[in-house]
Amino acid sequence: MDTPITKLFKVKYPLIQAGMIWCSGWRLASAVSNAGGLGIIGSGSMYPDVLDEHVKKCKANTKNPFAVNLPMLYPNIEEHIETIIKNKVPIVFTSAGNPKTYTERLKSNGIVVVHVISSVKFALKAEEAGVDAIVAEGFEAGGHNGHDETTTLCLIPMVKKAVNIPVIAAGGIGDGKSMLACMALGADGVQIGSRFVASEESSAHINFKNAVLNCKEGDTKLTLKELTPVRLIKNDFYHKIENAYKNNASTQELQELLGRGRAKKGMFIGDLENGELEIGQVSGMLDKIMPAGEIVKEIINEFFDTQHNINQIKI
Ligand SMILES: Cc1cc2nc3c(=O)[nH]c(=O)nc-3n(C[C@H](O)[C@H](O)[C@H](O)COP(=O)(O)O)c2cc1C
Repeated sequence: MDTPITKLFKVKYPLIQAGMIWCSGWRLASAVSNAGGLGIIGSGSMYPDVLDEHVKKCKANTKNPFAVNLPMLYPNIEEHIETIIKNKVPIVFTSAGNPKTYTERLKSNGIVVVHVISSVKFALKAEEAGVDAIVAEGFEAGGHNGHDETTTLCLIPMVKKAVNIPVIAAGGIGDGKSMLACMALGADGVQIGSRFVASEESSAHINFKNAVLNCKEGDTKLTLKELTPVRLIKNDFYHKIENAYKNNASTQELQELLGRGRAKKGMFIGDLENGELEIGQVSGMLDKIMPAGEIVKEIINEFFDTQHNINQIKI
């Protein structure tokens, strides 16, 4: 496939596996890159030495380009940046922060920089900061998200119209049909998170993977907007948040309820009651755990089949 994104990343398909805390290490990233997509290591849950190990292992397991996701809220960010530069990581996806802070430094080291946004306003800021492309993430997405609740279907055309750099769609994409739909809306590529949580190579705990497969329509909700909005499975922890809202909890009380280490507890340790279980609405469509390379193959095949079928429609 030939799009501004395949050219920018030097990959076969404009299909990116999202960087995801506790779920996307070197195994998943290298499997996706080997299948012709772009794999991303999620550094937000890694100590600096752990990221260094994952980058080295990813390099040893794929000859193809891969990336690191750098959430800018991360406390040891300087050490992560040094690891990325030292290991010559070719592409970085920054998120959750101001794109101005690190773009110039990364680019001056020859790194392609992509920034994640969820509104037109922040898309323009990212373009102004000099990033090479943006990920526009809609309301359906798993993990942290914007405040505005703009769905992918509405966000992509608006962002595409506003900026002159390549746009990668994210949020609610789980198969070839939705990939094609996003590209029909103007996206130059897609980023997929939730579907890859349910892959063999994802480092998510098996309890969490099975909870994702059990999700039906309506089983996730975007919450904790006063802290950082996040889409979660409605488990016991989620219901505690709901009760706190009913009792008019302050931001500080919500912060105390969230505490520390909830995401690790839920997604990596597999505590389905007390942990934070981040997943997107697309979980309602997932019914099996597959090897990541097979997921890429299935999505791309369905993309081309759907494109063919649409071309058959008689007008
Ligand atoms: C379990 C999980 C963890 C995530 N962690 C991160 C993260 O560390 N950094 C980030 O920028 N986005 C993160 N995200 C968001 C993804 O990068 C991606 O944009 C999103 O999953 C796309 O929507 P989808 O889940 O509908 O495919 C996470 C998503 C999930 C499901």
